[in-house]
Amino acid sequence: MTLYERAKKTLPGGVNSPVRAFDPYPFFVECAQGSKLYDADGKKYVDYCMAYGALLLGHANKEILEAVKAQLPKGTLYGTPTELEIQFAEAISKASPCMEMMRLVSTGTEATMHAIRAARGYTNRKKIIKFDGCFHGSHDNVLVKAGSGATTFGAPNSLGVPQETTQNTLVLPYNDVDALESTFKAEGASLAAVIVEPVMANVGLILPKKGYLESLRKITSQYGTVLIFDEIISGFRLSLGGAQEYFGVKPDMATLGKVLGGGFPLAAFGGKKEIMQNISPVGKVYQAGTFSGNPVSAAAGMAILDYLSKNQSQIYPKLERCASELRKALADQASAHKLSVQVYSIASLYQIFFTAQDITDYACAKHSDPALFSVYFHELLKQGVFIPPSQYETCFVSAAHTEDDLKFTIEAFDRALFAASKTRNPP
Ligand SMILES: Cc1ncc(COP(=O)(O)O)c(C=O)c1O
Repeated sequence: MTLYERAKKTLPGGVNSPVRAFDPYPFFVECAQGSKLYDADGKKYVDYCMAYGALLLGHANKEILEAVKAQLPKGTLYGTPTELEIQFAEAISKASPCMEMMRLVSTGTEATMHAIRAARGYTNRKKIIKFDGCFHGSHDNVLVKAGSGATTFGAPNSLGVPQETTQNTLVLPYNDVDALESTFKAEGASLAAVIVEPVMANVGLILPKKGYLESLRKITSQYGTVLIFDEIISGFRLSLGGAQEYFGVKPDMATLGKVLGGGFPLAAFGGKKEIMQNISPVGKVYQAGTFSGNPVSAAAGMAILDYLSKNQSQIYPKLERCASELRKALADQASAHKLSVQVYSIASLYQIFFTAQDITDYACAKHSDPALFSVYFHELLKQGVFIPPSQYETCFVSAAHTEDDLKFTIEAFDRALFAASKTRNPP
């Protein structure tokens, strides 16, 4: 029996997260090192999924492994505080402009759930705004027109989430200042929070228009609404200080995860002291977690923050150069193969859309041709390049990718785009 047939018997769809499933079946990983994944059949892949953006330094990074190995014999979970948690929170606060106080949690889903609760508790208001296609994890408040797997598998609104729960979640198009202004005019006094991915990375890659994040900042300040940047992807990836530093816009709160844990389960939510001081046991907003701030994840997180703060002046420009080289190669080759595409990159993120239309929001992203993306994905896979299997995800470059990896990838792009062009224009 294949691993997939076996997996399907105990795991829905054979996977532990829907984004991992693709037709005809996903490959099962045996091990990983640097920029490569090795599957159970011994095949090697250059990896641009990088655990959906969690691995900025690549797989099995030496510094992180050493930090974790040093922690393991000292214990894996204590149920009582450690100095490491303080050091770690101090390091996050230093790197990330808005994080005056924070709570460490285990996943991004927890972080956004608690950030929204903290904002509601602080403002004593109920409604929140999220943006069409932004993904903030899989809890009830934000599973409304959500991106990532929720879009890929056609369920941006999930069964099992009562309408009563989501009636306080207003959904607006991203990059649309007029929609923002008219909603605030009508609802401003009841809006607790606006939660946004400052760069949308869960419906492909969509960049904020010039001035858009500044408009969000201005209008939320005007109405006393808490601005939450969901930096689970952009944090420590756009720059050490995330999108806040990259764009120079400081939100009231932020959520961090993925890169922050160095490949271990760890996330954080935090922001202004006056908001965070309402969290239990100081205030009446309840939040708790058995594994929160666990010493193994915190040791991994501390190791990556240390590494990034010491090497930021080399690492971020190098990552940006690599992603932009991949973007340019995709755009040039698509044009050579007479395919209409849009290709975007920022810092270490890039993605292609198979459409002639510029992509500024989720509605535009849906114009990308899924059949062409599927040919492109499967052809890359055949050649040993693994990207996230859905158009509604983003590709991630890591510090472990080498010049040889890029050369190999660019050659694979050419064959994949040629295959896509043949589907469009069969001989
Ligand atoms: C922007 C964003 N927020 C939140 C989450 C949820 O994080 P997690 O999967 O760790 O729960 C994700 C996951 O992909 C994400 O991309």
